[in-house]
Amino acid sequence: MSNVRVLFVCLGNICRSPMAEAVFRSKLQQAGLDGIVEVDSAGTGDWHIGHPPHEGTRKQLDLKGISYAGMKARQFIGQDNDQFDYIVCMDTKNEKDVRELIDGAVSGADKGRGAEVLTFMSLLPEKGIVDVPDPYYTGNFDYVYELVDEGCDRLLEQVRSALKGSN
Ligand code: 4NP
Repeated sequence: MSNVRVLFVCLGNICRSPMAEAVFRSKLQQAGLDGIVEVDSAGTGDWHIGHPPHEGTRKQLDLKGISYAGMKARQFIGQDNDQFDYIVCMDTKNEKDVRELIDGAVSGADKGRGAEVLTFMSLLPEKGIVDVPDPYYTGNFDYVYELVDEGCDRLLEQVRSALKGSN
């Protein structure tokens, strides 16, 4: 595997998945892997297409000095399955919707090809939490940042071993 492509998906693509995109990109830069691993994010909903990250997400990223320059929400499409190696869903509803959209877009012969779809919290099984709680409703962006930071460390380890395995 020469390049690895990671897509984070949530509902609106303004709170959780852009936070994960920005945090993961920053960790890749620190690890010298930003030229090798590509990151993007998308939402299953269409309400915020073209919008920048939510101010709660921007505040967390500003506090940590992490860039979100140029980031704009877009909607997930089933064909993203062909463009990414990992599709990391911030909650189980997003995962269900993503799988349905992929199923609708992929022809029978192509079933089983494409990205590995997983939930973000499956990266942190010891937490015993299934979904990254949506701060659009809870307002708790600090807690989401903690989960995102830890989960992205775990994902980085996973991507490193995938890259090693391919050499
Ligand atoms: P996100 O949060 O999925 O983490 O971006 C949400 C953002 C917007 C809405 C719902 C969730 N909304 O209904 O507009």
